[in-house]
Amino acid sequence: MDGKRIKKDIETRDDIEHLVNAFYDKIKQNSKLAYIFNDIAKVDWATHLPKMYSFWGSILLGEKSFVGNPMKKHVELGKITPMTETEFSEWKKVFAETVFELFEGSKADEAVLRAQNIARLMLYNIAKS
Ligand code: HEM
Repeated sequence: MDGKRIKKDIETRDDIEHLVNAFYDKIKQNSKLAYIFNDIAKVDWATHLPKMYSFWGSILLGEKSFVGNPMKKHVELGKITPMTETEFSEWKKVFAETVFELFEGSKADEAVLRAQNIARLMLYNIAKS
């Protein structure tokens, strides 16, 4: 054994939950982002996490279970706290790190790509609002 493990791709709802839980575990401790969730938005994690399972389940597994308006939520957030390139770069960095620590494959790549595209659109909408 050389200790090298082949990672699996993101394939199931369990994988999505694992990814989302791992991502927000990091976010909750992140020096540039934790305060936005905990102090500014005062996120109720018991509500937010299942919502994010549905969001990523819909994007990556075609679940169609997500209900929400992320653009509006983040534009509103941008009015009460800095939501700039700095915050989005950090978010994208932590997201990509988490995805590739746990998974590899076309869905893993797609997750990172989709997150980057949505982040770019959010930043654009926040900047022009
Ligand atoms: C600087 C980066 C970001 C920060 C600080 C941030 C923070 C937050 C916070 C505080 C909420 C809870 C809002 C509330 O329920 O009142 C939220 C919701 C959400 N975020 Fe983000 N976010 C960021 C980037 C992103 C990106 C890039 C995505 C998508 C790839 C995303 C997806 C979502 C979704 C789907 C929700 C739920 C929206 C809804 O309830 O309609 N976020 N975010």
